[in-house]
Amino acid sequence: MDRLQICGGKPLKGEVFISGAKNAALPELCAALLTDEPLVLDNCPKLNDVNTMETLLSQMGVGVERNAPHRVTLDGASIAWPLAPYELVKTMRASILTLGPLLARCGRARVSMPGGCAIGLRPIDQHIKALAQMGAEIDLKHGYIAAQSQRLTGADITFNMPTVTGTENVMMAATLAKGVTTLHNAAREPEIVDLANLLTAMGARIQGAGESLIVIEGVERLHGATHRVMPDRIESGTFLAAAAATRGSIILRRTDAKALAPVLEVMRKIGLDIKVSNDDQGDQIALSHRGNYDAFHLVTAPHPGFPTDMQAQMMALAIAADGISTITETIFESRMMHVQELVRLGASIEVDGNTARVTGGTPLSGATVMATDLRASASLVIAALMAEGVTTIDRIYHLDRGYEAMEAKLSALGAEVLRIE
Ligand code: EPU
Repeated sequence: MDRLQICGGKPLKGEVFISGAKNAALPELCAALLTDEPLVLDNCPKLNDVNTMETLLSQMGVGVERNAPHRVTLDGASIAWPLAPYELVKTMRASILTLGPLLARCGRARVSMPGGCAIGLRPIDQHIKALAQMGAEIDLKHGYIAAQSQRLTGADITFNMPTVTGTENVMMAATLAKGVTTLHNAAREPEIVDLANLLTAMGARIQGAGESLIVIEGVERLHGATHRVMPDRIESGTFLAAAAATRGSIILRRTDAKALAPVLEVMRKIGLDIKVSNDDQGDQIALSHRGNYDAFHLVTAPHPGFPTDMQAQMMALAIAADGISTITETIFESRMMHVQELVRLGASIEVDGNTARVTGGTPLSGATVMATDLRASASLVIAALMAEGVTTIDRIYHLDRGYEAMEAKLSALGAEVLRIE
């Protein structure tokens, strides 16, 4: 298992190019199941989760080809096996995103139940309830979701909570259903808008993506398309937090400032200097220091609230803030696993229920720590960059799932980072 060794204490300085968004690329790869024509995704990040999704789709019979480092061509002319086996689903919950498209295109699907994961239980009852409302017969047996239907029919669906992959799964299924599907209380994340843009380019009729009411008018068939995956707002936020925490200055290139608005708002409020501009490749965000920054209070919430996927990184940032910060996690029930590891590095953090209270200003010193999930790993990287001495982060495969070339990007910004294989 690879480990990352970071010698901290150096401010990050320079420019970094932001990769395509993991959480947009994953559903967009699954959209290839909806058409028998080729789908081309540009700016598709090179990540372990993307590799896993490509393997899953090719096992189903989809042709998958990386024609350039960030261009993937998918050919779903024939789907031989509408099956997502346990071996792949257990490594990546986003495999559930094949359920809706398979059902809509093939009339049947067998997808392993994802089970719990480090950050919480993460049930999929909302996906199943919605597809059943659209006429699917669903059987949960032997750890698998076995679903079948003639053509799905449009339905009026209300989610109990805004679920990101739930909204995406049902939106994809509804594009080929007979009649109109209305999604109430839909998730509003920017990745949903990006997916809807791709589906629209494929011939789907979707209105309201990005709002809590989405209306999808089903069509007989979808065609191929070429689409550029949106920039990763969480990778963007992670680099901003790392630069701020090390009292450095950074320019993000090829990013999307609007998608990152809730994070930029907090960063500006605590006294970080943030300037947004754009060129023909997208937005640029420049962050620099005016000295210290203030403590803050944040509560994670569905978009446009503060993203849970930036909670752990903000906790690392809070360690160097002036005063006491509070961070409340409301989306996942056990997404505070990084706290113990941050404390091992010297941070002063107390947890009460789902709220962490971080006393800023305590110096960190390098130690061996363990990554427990993707964003927890990112927070440990930030803390290691701040710490005096050497930090070794174990189980770095979590980081490789969702950050493209993290150590190369950090090294180019002046960090001392070494991967130990
Ligand atoms: N929920 C249910 N039932 C469902 C679906 C969701 O109870 O059927 C609950 C969840 O347990 C959770 C809440 O609803 O408490 C929201 O979960 P959601 O379904 O929105 O999460 P997700 O779709 O499984 C996506 C991202 C996550 C991100 C969350 C929240 C992808 C592939 N994953 O997960 O990304 O944290 O939305 O924004 O898009 C990450 O990138 O590190 C990551 C975990």
